[in-house]
Amino acid sequence: MDIRNNFAYHLIVALGSFGLFFALRLSGIESHRALPAVAFTLLFLTLAIGPLMRLWKPAVNVLPWNLPWSWRGELGIWFAIVSIAHMLLVFKGAQWDVFEYLSAMRVGNLVAFIALFWALILTATSFGSVIKFIGVSSWRWLHSFAYVVFYLVGIHVLNHAFFRPGRPSDWLDWSYLVMMLTIVCLQLAAFLITVKEYRKSLAKKDGD
Ligand code: HEM
Repeated sequence: MDIRNNFAYHLIVALGSFGLFFALRLSGIESHRALPAVAFTLLFLTLAIGPLMRLWKPAVNVLPWNLPWSWRGELGIWFAIVSIAHMLLVFKGAQWDVFEYLSAMRVGNLVAFIALFWALILTATSFGSVIKFIGVSSWRWLHSFAYVVFYLVGIHVLNHAFFRPGRPSDWLDWSYLVMMLTIVCLQLAAFLITVKEYRKSLAKKDGD
């Protein structure tokens, strides 16, 4: 496990996020939609890495520079930064009447608010010095909540993409659904591999 936050990786993830934002703008997506789309993509990448590494362990072992484990911290940190920017844009749209906005918030946005709160806790504990302080096993336990963040954000996104009256869905909305289903499938596949490996190790023990 790599607990360092690499400046070069931060720069690449930040530039990649700007690149995706501008690509979405060029394809005609408005800023208030492009920004959360970047946030969601970063969350998707952060969570896809874990199960992918589990599924292709041999390939990962031969990859240089501890790839792609080492990107998770940076991707997660930029997910939180871009999500905060999205929230601030929403508050700006409400003329900064934050208290009024929060008190009238619907469930679909409340879950996102809770998700963001958790995301900030996970971000604060993604720095090497903090991981060293709390210990790797506490860090692992805490960061298993990343999937809770994902499913809460998923409810929020699906609500805006498909259940808002009078809002037609487009390719971006369908891409959210594809990303969510991909994470569910990857998690399921990684779980099945883990069970298979466990059964194999039991059979081997019995054979010895
Ligand atoms: C936790 C991270 C978050 C992510 C990844 C996220 C993601 C998204 C996405 C993908 C959309 C759909 C945009 C579209 O219509 O195409 C959206 C819309 C929206 N989100 Fe979030 N969101 C997050 C947090 C929040 C929070 C904390 C709030 C409340 C303050 C919020 C309020 C909204 C609102 C009001 C919309 C509708 C925006 C519009 O149509 O202009 N989101 N969000």
